[in-house]
Amino acid sequence: MQTGPVEVAEMSGDVAVLKTGVGILVQDAMSRRLIEAASIHLELQPVELDEGSFEGSMLSGFELIIADEAIALRLRAVMTTGDEQAEGVNPALIAVRSKTAVGPEEPEVHFEGVLALPQEPAAIVAQMGLILYAHRAFARRYQSALEELQLNRRIFRSVTSGISVANAKEPDLPLVYVNPAFEVMTGYSLEEVQGKNCRFLQKGETEQPGLTLIREALAAGREVVAILRNYRKDGTVFWNELSLSPIRNRDGELTHFVGIQNDVTSRVEFEAALRESEKLAAVGRLAASIAHEINNPLESVMNLLYLAGHGSDDEAKGEYLAQADKELQRVAQITSQSLRFYKQSTKPQAVRLVDLMESVLDLYQGRIENAGLTVKKRERMTESIVCLESEIRQVLSNLVRNAMDSMAGTAGRLMVRTREATEWRSNTRGVLLTVADTGTGMSPETLKKLYTAFYTTKGIGGTGLGLWVSAEIVQRHKGRLLVRSSQRAGASGTVFELFLPYQGFAN
Ligand code: FNR
Repeated sequence: MQTGPVEVAEMSGDVAVLKTGVGILVQDAMSRRLIEAASIHLELQPVELDEGSFEGSMLSGFELIIADEAIALRLRAVMTTGDEQAEGVNPALIAVRSKTAVGPEEPEVHFEGVLALPQEPAAIVAQMGLILYAHRAFARRYQSALEELQLNRRIFRSVTSGISVANAKEPDLPLVYVNPAFEVMTGYSLEEVQGKNCRFLQKGETEQPGLTLIREALAAGREVVAILRNYRKDGTVFWNELSLSPIRNRDGELTHFVGIQNDVTSRVEFEAALRESEKLAAVGRLAASIAHEINNPLESVMNLLYLAGHGSDDEAKGEYLAQADKELQRVAQITSQSLRFYKQSTKPQAVRLVDLMESVLDLYQGRIENAGLTVKKRERMTESIVCLESEIRQVLSNLVRNAMDSMAGTAGRLMVRTREATEWRSNTRGVLLTVADTGTGMSPETLKKLYTAFYTTKGIGGTGLGLWVSAEIVQRHKGRLLVRSSQRAGASGTVFELFLPYQGFAN
């Protein structure tokens, strides 16, 4: 009687039993009986198969297939060219070779095992048991790897971030995979992008600051995050936050790069709008300061002119007018400083940080005096730096205002120092400006959020954008802003250190 795997399934009604069957395609009746006996001993269901009456896909229902060597070779070919999408574990294939047959032997590497028949039943059980043991161990490993792979695929398909994978072993990093979210974000399909370098999204805008970071990281084989201006297939622009990570094989060899893309257009546009609004707010604050600064000398001028007009002594009159002239010069100086503040620079210029600081302090001179603050300056560095003047002035103004606010009502000291310095991380040379105050200092909590937008300790008096914008300006100038602060009674205060490289904004 000949039965097929389907009948076995019907007999048991259980797919698991079907999986533990042995498919037998052996001509010699005595060999067949030996194999059936050994199978039952190993608790495997033997099923006789007819080579002409089954399809290759039926094979996957068995754990073992035992076939005459010539048939086994044909089966091996069917198994290896089978549907790769199926991703199941193939049954172990055992070739039966006649003990008495002579002739060229096929290399055993084609099969999981070779049975030379006839031989002792116990030896057959031992051989089949060994093959089964090895096959089950392999199947378990294969199954868990397959499950992990399928999980990874589901994750790749379901995440809302774009994912792209490039082959790092081929020249120019061609893409080998992009997930559906990448296709939705960019408008390009997997088929369209496969084999291409991902720079087609830049539409020729190859001089973006983010690309410098990416090129350096790709060359060094390390991780990077950068924001790039990209174009969708329909020509619309979007800001792409790209995180790239290198993938290495067991030998440490770089094989792929994985990119994770996020459309951050609304965040980038919102931050740009915030920066603009903070610039306007800074101008508003400045206007208030200027009015305050001009008011004092103007009041003096009015008093002096009154005295000069009502007095009779010519010498005293001359004295009053000379003083009024001095006060007016101060007004003129404040006005010209304010104009420089107001003018937004778009081109980098070489300026001395000392001069910028001087002009800032000049504008706050009246407030400093009224508050009873003393200013100590130590300038050891008078060389110029290349920067956007109005932006750096905005940073200095923020630092000085914060220092003054923290010392309100304390008659404290403001110390301003400049010196030449080298930034250790990038080994660049530039100017280090220190602004230190003896104010109330900041709590660790405040220090943590210092550069966060909308964080303020000044109640409705502050926008919470001053230091956030300052940090962004400093970053664009390739500089650093460091802060130390203490609230210890009797020794409280804050020190800001601003490092700006000589050529930070030279390009
Ligand atoms: C990239 N690159 C890239 N560029 C871009 O503008 N948008 C993107 O989404 C991506 N995604 C991406 C994924 C992966 C896996 C890699 C390896 C790279 C960067 C781009 O392909 C290219 O490497 C850089 O432009 C640097 O090369 P050039 O400009 O120096 O030729």
